[in-house]
Order: sequence, then structure tokens, then C-alpha cells
Amino acid sequence: MTRSVTVSVPAKVNVQLAVGGVRPDGFHDLANVFLAVGLHDRVTVTPSDTLRITVEGPDADQVPADRTNLAARAAELLGARYGIAPEVHLHIAKEIPVAGGMAGGSADGAGALVACDALWGTGASREELLSLCAELGSDVPFSLIGGAALGRGRGELLTPLEVGGTFHWVFAVADGGLSTPAVYRECDRLREAAYAERAGAGATGGASVEHVPDPEPSPALLDALAEGDVVALASAVMAGGTPPGFAGGTPARTVSGGGSSNDLQAAAVSLRPSLTETLEAGAKAGALASIVSGSGPTCAFLARDAAAATALSGALRASGTCRTAIPATSPAPGATVV
Ligand code: C5P
Repeated sequence: MTRSVTVSVPAKVNVQLAVGGVRPDGFHDLANVFLAVGLHDRVTVTPSDTLRITVEGPDADQVPADRTNLAARAAELLGARYGIAPEVHLHIAKEIPVAGGMAGGSADGAGALVACDALWGTGASREELLSLCAELGSDVPFSLIGGAALGRGRGELLTPLEVGGTFHWVFAVADGGLSTPAVYRECDRLREAAYAERAGAGATGGASVEHVPDPEPSPALLDALAEGDVVALASAVMAGGTPPGFAGGTPARTVSGGGSSNDLQAAAVSLRPSLTETLEAGAKAGALASIVSGSGPTCAFLARDAAAATALSGALRASGTCRTAIPATSPAPGATVV
């Protein structure tokens, strides 16, 4: 009998995504408060003649089934490290929205790494696996550990966080994804435009580390997480983020007069203006907080409890402002062999 290993990996939402200036290497330093949510991809690895990938799920056709897929790159990376030919069939059952700002691709990378490690019996340490995850992408280490964590650097340097309760979310899934690099570029462009407006025509800069404050986690937000206090978390999420472009500006205002703890939100909305309607529909339907998840276009809504989340997801589906709305809770465990 051919042995196979299946690993379940959670999605994430960023309850805070403070984005610093663009670094010389093109990345941005972050204060990234990750929370794993109970929507999962399952990666199954089986020995095969050659490395191949198959994908199932509503948007399977939008997932690259070649070596650009992070799951394939994970198998190749671990194989290269341990001198094992990555001759495996990787099957990905996708529940996490594709290119949705919920780390679905990162989940598949972490899942394939853990699955190949178990299949091959490499016995890699947790530290080694985390360092391979960081090579694969900024969000991949968090997909491995799950729970809640503060990510510094480009998001890969993790400190686990305590969470004092269960949070109830609704995720409004959009039609079509957004490219993460494109959203970061748009964030830079908006910051440059805000700077030029303030400093006068011809002024250049505004998106660099000299002009953008260092990203810092919000103490109120970390306290709310630790206490499991949904009302305090909602208020910290809506309290606003880094001013656009440089210190001293006005935080971007969004729906309901609130700000957003996600500095990529303005950029995601600029690239996909219809997200304003989705955010407004959730706020009108009673969400305690309404934000874009990571680089979007999925929108995340915080509900008071399970019943409120069920009602909110029904209202969002009926609003016609998203393809579907899915309730899910957090925190959730990281990559787990099932
Ligand atoms: O690390 P990852 O491959 O997921 O990043 C994808 C892209 O997102 C990067 O190439 C970069 O454009 C952008 N990014 C960034 N700063 C980060 C993380 C990602 O600019 N901290």
C-alpha cells in the first residue's frame, strides 16, 4: 500500500497590519498581528514518479498546478536540504479563498513542508522547518505555527501571543483575487501621492523608511487579544493605522467614520473600489469591526458571538456585495498532520 500523509493548515486574518516604509530589498517592515482562523486547506502528499500537483475546490482553476506553487517549492526545498528527490504527488483541497489575503498559498507551502517531512521521515527540527518556511514566503512561518503571533521583519520573525477567548468572524469572499505585490505597490503609490500633496509638487519620496514611521503593534489591541475581549478588539481594529506616507498625516478614514488597523486596506480598496460597499454592508448588518483581510480582497467582520456571526453572514450574502460569506472562529491550531 502506498503511504500518504495529509496536513490541515489554517487561514489567517491580520488584526493589525502596520506597514513601514519600503526597504532597499523591496520588502516592508511590518508589525503584523496574525490570528489563525478555522478555515483550512488540506495538503496530501503521496509518493509518485515525478513532482506533480492537483487542486480541488471552488477556485481550483486559479491555483497554479506547476512548480511556481508554494507547495511544490516546499517539497523541492526540503528535498534539496535532505538529499531526497521530491518525487511526490501533492493534492491540495482548498477551502481558503484563492489570492484572498488569507494566506492560502502560504498555508499550502507550510502544509506541503510538514507533509513531506512526515512522509520522508527527515526529522527536521521545528526551528529548521520555520527557517525553510521563511525562505518560502513572509507569511509561511505563521501558517506553520497558527494560534496568534506578532510578526516583525517582513512578517517572518514571530513571537507567539496569548489569546484569552474565542473570536467569531465572518469572511466575505470576493470574486477574483488581488496580487499581494500589487497591493504593496499601491500602498507605496498612495503614500507618495499623499507626500507630494503635503510637501508640494515635485517632492519625491513618501513611501521610504525615512518618511514612514516604524511599524509598532498597538498595545490596546494586544491587551484585547490577551483578554479575549471582542468589543475592545473591535475598537482597536477600527482605531486607525499608520498615517499615509509620513508622520503627522491624518489616518485614512473608512466606513462608519472608523479607521483601520490594516495599512494595506486603503491600497486594496483603491485597486478594488467595490470593497467599500462590502465593508459598509457588514457594518450596517451589525459587525463590531469591518476590515480588509491582509492584502484583500476578502473582508473580515468581527461578530459578538456565534449567533451574531450566523446572522451577519446571512445579511452579507443577501447584500449582493460579495460572492459568499463564511463564518469562522479564531484562534486555530497551525499545520497539523491528520
Ligand atoms: O514574502 P512573500 O513572497 O509572500 O511576498 C510577496 C510580495 O509581497 C513581495 O515580493 C513584496 O512585493 C510584498 N511584501 C512586502 N513586504 C512584506 C511582505 C511582502 O513588500 N513584508
